Amino acid sequence: MVAAVPDRADTGRVSRRVTSPVLIGRSAEVEAATTAIVSARAGRARFVLVSGDAGIGKTRLVSEVCGRARQAGMLTAVGGCVQTGDAAVAYAPLAEVLRDLLRQLRSATLTELMGPGAAEIRPLLGGEVADGASRGGSALFEHLLGLLVRLGEHRPALVVFEDLHWADPSTRDLVAFLARNLREAAVAIVLTYRSDELHRRHPLHGLLADVRRDPDLEAIALPGLGRADLSALVGEISDEALPAARVDELAARSGGNPFYVEELIAAGPSAGLPASLAEAILAPGEPACRADSRRAARGRRPGG
Ligand SMILES: Nc1ncnc2c1ncn2[C@@H]1O[C@H](COP(=O)(O)OP(=O)(O)OP(=O)(O)O)[C@@H](O)[C@H]1O
Ligand SMILES: [Mg+2]
Repeated sequence: MVAAVPDRADTGRVSRRVTSPVLIGRSAEVEAATTAIVSARAGRARFVLVSGDAGIGKTRLVSEVCGRARQAGMLTAVGGCVQTGDAAVAYAPLAEVLRDLLRQLRSATLTELMGPGAAEIRPLLGGEVADGASRGGSALFEHLLGLLVRLGEHRPALVVFEDLHWADPSTRDLVAFLARNLREAAVAIVLTYRSDELHRRHPLHGLLADVRRDPDLEAIALPGLGRADLSALVGEISDEALPAARVDELAARSGGNPFYVEELIAAGPSAGLPASLAEAILAPGEPACRADSRRAARGRRPGG
């Protein structure tokens, strides 16, 4: 399956593209996620869990699926967890989701949707809640539940929480609460996390167990791209056709990970591994902070 990416413009910096303008492969995953999400329009909330290694294509998949949800008339709002060292920012992805909603709805409409919870929810827009302040704060969670139900009545919606491996404790509590309590609402929730970040005692395990209790959960674990898709990806990224032996080499070195393929092609055939990539490959147990800064600088958001 090949689909256009609406918000991915060429940087214009160099003539060579480093990212494929089309989504390669993933047709089964896009289909499964879209079907689940769009079914929420009928008034029953759906959860979709997208996992996979760093760079495997979670954000790209979610971006495609957000586009399809919008085509189906849904509102989409995206928030991502951020890696902040020890000082986690409470509800960081929720604040981003609310700001995304504010960009798309009139302020008065959002206030109306917040209903009796407006006074509690509004401070989140300004990031004014210290971590722990509302832990287990069932009043706030109930208000957010009410907001989502009313949002779905206003217009069916897709809410994305990205990179939950970095979630602060309050966000984990909130998502667990929603997994248990969000039922009759025209809202789909997409959750993503890096499976290669989850060491045995990672705090996300408890939340994942809660989420997986949902019998309607659509769980999508993204593997590396197969040889044919990888070859198509290489064809999209490089200016000139590469010999089959080079494609084989890229397949072997990348394990089908699109981000690695991009890095290896950008580095050129004679180069060794880019430092960022060598670090990621040689230290798989380490947090994959490697080229995150480069990618953060690109400012990608799946909803965009
Ligand atoms: N199926 C695909 N077709 C074309 N390009 C892809 C595909 N999957 C991923 N890419 C590209 O590979 C790069 C990494 O993808 P993406 O950012 O979606 O990975 P990720 O799983 O979200 O990584 P992270 O865990 O670091 O957030 C991006 O430049 C993306 O555009
Ligand atoms: Mg991502």
